[in-house]
Amino acid sequence: MKEAARQARAESRVIGFVPTMGALHAGHLSLVSRARRDCDPVIASIFVNPKQFGPQEDFKKYPRTLEKDAEKFAEAGVGALFLPEAAEMYPTGFATYVNVEGLSERFEGRTRPGHFRGVTTVVAKLFHIVEPDLAFFGQKDAAQVAIIRRMVRDLNFPVEIAVCPIVREPDGLAMSSRNAYLGPEQRKQALVLQRSLTLVEQMIGAGEYDALRLVAAAKEVFAGETAVRLDYFEIVDADSLDPVSDVAKGALVAVAAFVGTTRLIDNIVLPAS
Ligand code: PAJ
Repeated sequence: MKEAARQARAESRVIGFVPTMGALHAGHLSLVSRARRDCDPVIASIFVNPKQFGPQEDFKKYPRTLEKDAEKFAEAGVGALFLPEAAEMYPTGFATYVNVEGLSERFEGRTRPGHFRGVTTVVAKLFHIVEPDLAFFGQKDAAQVAIIRRMVRDLNFPVEIAVCPIVREPDGLAMSSRNAYLGPEQRKQALVLQRSLTLVEQMIGAGEYDALRLVAAAKEVFAGETAVRLDYFEIVDADSLDPVSDVAKGALVAVAAFVGTTRLIDNIVLPAS
């Protein structure tokens, strides 16, 4: 991988990078399309990163569809696909981690301790190996975006982070590799995430800017869907992830909830009004 990337750089080409854990859907492929606008080659990676899963989480059962994924990436115009093995990424004696303090203990980090440390560690390693000019991430994982941006800034990574909009199913559910875990009934229940966000958007449209009242109304929506357990519903600044009390200056509205044992996330970005 290093050799291929080095060669592209020697030819003064702009390297775009799309890191993933595979089980590809249209959300992942939208990152590739976006990358192709500005970059050649587009390099993608598939690595189900053990360091970002907790001991009780779904690392073992995470969907692995490598052959189909390779085809989809090739069709989408990925020029090189990086498929490292866990033993090469984390050889015996591996002991060095990258952790964005503070931010990493919030959002997914609260329910999934160590998750973001695993993400930043692997993304830092991937950046060192691929040395991309631009790297593409989905808005779907809004806290991940804030944390990676902070890591890049704090550690002077010579890469620009580009963020792409959330791709949704026709009924509004944000695409996720984990949607495959949902049964038909759960698939319907999962729409409560999207409903809560839409309600907040409508209330803001009607002039309600008070974050506490917006959060309270969103939580009511979840109270009506008893099969779904809310993890968090927060209105925060998109960079600092600190709560905001008034959404008039723009904000990130982020939600996470368990449908059965499947944890789903979604969010909307509110522009300044
Ligand atoms: P993964 O969940 O495979 O997602 C890879 C990229 O696709 C992430 O940037 C994610 O935000 C984006 N993505 C997922 N669903 C999306 C959707 N519906 N619309 C738009 N983009 C979407 O995120 C990870 O992998 C890992 O944490 C990783 C960054 C690869 C580090 O291991």
